[in-house]
Amino acid sequence: MSSQHFYHFSALPLSTRMVYSMTLLVLGVGYLFAMLQVFFSHAGLDGNKHDITAEDVRIAYHGSGSDTRLQTALKGPMADMLPASERALIFTWVDQGASREGYDKIVKPIVDNRCLACHDGASNPHLPKLTSYEEIAKVVVKDEGATIPTLVRVSHIHLFGITFIFFIVSSIFAHAYMKTLWLKCVLIVLPFLTILSDIFSWYLTKWFPGFAWFIIGSGVLMGISFTVQWVVSMWQMWFYTLPDKLQECGGALPILGGKSKIQDV
Ligand code: HEC
Repeated sequence: MSSQHFYHFSALPLSTRMVYSMTLLVLGVGYLFAMLQVFFSHAGLDGNKHDITAEDVRIAYHGSGSDTRLQTALKGPMADMLPASERALIFTWVDQGASREGYDKIVKPIVDNRCLACHDGASNPHLPKLTSYEEIAKVVVKDEGATIPTLVRVSHIHLFGITFIFFIVSSIFAHAYMKTLWLKCVLIVLPFLTILSDIFSWYLTKWFPGFAWFIIGSGVLMGISFTVQWVVSMWQMWFYTLPDKLQECGGALPILGGKSKIQDV
């Protein structure tokens, strides 16, 4: 086999390790915010806003069996846009058949006051317009989960964005030393596979609610890969000394058993 080399972090210049560390630091914070975003947009869909359950995920993609789109939104991402008392009035109005009289008397003043900043049709044309009875009636329909155009939009953002993130993190992690090479390879390949399985599971869940568990499983595996790569990289960059016999090669070791050719770094 040819002599291919792998450079351990300790063989890299200080400046490169600083670039890597700062990148990991900011991406780590980014991951935490991504988790918060997942929490805010899903928790509460099932009526309990303190945690995320499989039921939350199921409702987000497959839709709620009983609620309308308006109710699902007001239990989930829109929950903090109005006080609970006003939300209860809207729910009662929906449950009693969403009449035009009820809209004029009770719902319109609330919506005008709390929702039109964003849902006036002009400030964000992608959001449902809620300026009239006819408009709001369009979201008082059975909640069938995320629409295909929404899923497609989020899919392409995730496919590009997350691949980019794992390209960076895995390229850094590639400089880590692990005794078992296959484990290192698994840790590198896994997150990329979970991007695909996560996104395909969204579409599957839209039709078969049981696939919500695949979304959760993909997310958990993605999180584990990210965390392991992050921690091992940071640790080996600053605190770890390579075993003696590897250090002799200046942190460079032949991967495929070729003769080690020490190079200046
Ligand atoms: C600060 C801006 C803002 C305000 C105020 C706001 N919304 Fe929204 N609304 C959004 C955004 C952004 C989305 C898309 C979020 C998403 O899909 O997670 C959205 C989504 C929705 C949806 C989901 C539509 C669908 O496709 O099923 C409904 C229904 C909704 N809002 C109703 C309301 C109501 C009712 C109020 C007032 C109580 C309100 N919103 C206040 C920004 C706002």
